[in-house]
Amino acid sequence: MEYTNGVKLSRHDLLNETNASTAKTTNQGIQASAEQANAVVTSRMTLKVNGQIKELDLDLRTTLLDALRDHLHLTGTKKGCDHGQCGACTVIVNGRRINSCLTLAILQEGAEITTIEGLGTPGSLHPMQAAFIKHDGYQCGYCTSGQICSAVSVLAEIRDGIPSHVSRDLTAKPLLSAEEIRERMSGNICRCGAYPNIIDAMAEVAGSQT
Ligand code: FES
Ligand code: FES
Repeated sequence: MEYTNGVKLSRHDLLNETNASTAKTTNQGIQASAEQANAVVTSRMTLKVNGQIKELDLDLRTTLLDALRDHLHLTGTKKGCDHGQCGACTVIVNGRRINSCLTLAILQEGAEITTIEGLGTPGSLHPMQAAFIKHDGYQCGYCTSGQICSAVSVLAEIRDGIPSHVSRDLTAKPLLSAEEIRERMSGNICRCGAYPNIIDAMAEVAGSQT
């Protein structure tokens, strides 16, 4: 094939040229999409943490866990799996426990967020914190803030009559049994195996509440 400018192209050359040009266009498209996906979209948000109002400018994709740890420097809340499987990141939102790695910070605007730092202080411990110390409910301590936040919420769930997987009668008030406590705490993993002592700590606080 000969063009008017004198350039000669074989059929093979022409196909190669066409493929190269298509690949270039496709690559540019992919690159543009990747750049678009990586573009950080920030938003101003207001979080209420441990009774204090905090204004933050965050990437909309920031999890509550990362907002607490990396932006508000509340490092008592731990990151274990970052996938909702270990419970280390448990905090209390509007009185109920959640895995803070599984929710976006922006979704918690207007909510009452309580972390381990808001439950008690070294000079004025929450009864659950004191019971964990008394009963040796931890070893390395990595899971402990999540365990304590969960434990506080579990007792509230039982008090409010919320049934669990092991509740025999879904219409009756759940029992404060070791079986109920174990089931409800099963989302909080402790690699040190402090489980029996955690149950003891919770049973003591539950006893003092009933
Ligand atoms: Fe959230 Fe493990 S870090 S559940
Ligand atoms: Fe070490 Fe629970 S105390 S993981």
